[in-house]
Amino acid sequence: MRYIVTGGAGFIGSNLADTLAQNHDVVIIDNLATGRRENIEHLLDHPRVNFIEGSITDLDFLMEVLPGADGILAGPPGAPVGVGSCLERGERDRNTQCTRRGERLQDAGRGCGILGLR
Ligand SMILES: NC(=O)c1ccc[n+]([C@@H]2O[C@H](COP(=O)([O-])OP(=O)(O)OC[C@H]3O[C@@H](n4cnc5c(N)ncnc54)[C@H](O)[C@@H]3O)[C@@H](O)[C@H]2O)c1
Repeated sequence: MRYIVTGGAGFIGSNLADTLAQNHDVVIIDNLATGRRENIEHLLDHPRVNFIEGSITDLDFLMEVLPGADGILAGPPGAPVGVGSCLERGERDRNTQCTRRGERLQDAGRGCGILGLR
């Protein structure tokens, strides 16, 4: 199987990618807003792992990277941004922002024939 892990350079995402890479192909998507390359340094040469720097808010980017995936995994669905970083950027209504990200990711995934978003 081939899985997309959004926020994959973050704490939860990098651990998720680690585990998945034992048995699956993994594409880590992260814009490195709060995540760190060090979290995935050990995975960068992994034969089953591919890291692509980009944002899940960029629909064109999503339509490039999602096709061919069997599933998309995010921290909470489509919301790979902690409360702190949302507030720093002045995103006061965190639930609304995260829901919009989740819906965009889900729509893009469906458009590429991917039915699973966790
Ligand atoms: N760590 C915990 O114990 C914990 C517990 C409960 C809930 N959560 C929630 O789970 C989520 C992930 O937590 P974490 O600790 O892994 O946070 P984290 O900040 O370590 O990881 C979030 C990742 O998302 C990336 N990111 C941010 N915006 C992005 C975008 N537009 N496109 C692509 N990538 C983007 C960041 O660069 C980062 O790598 C957060 O929403 C957090 O609130 C975390």
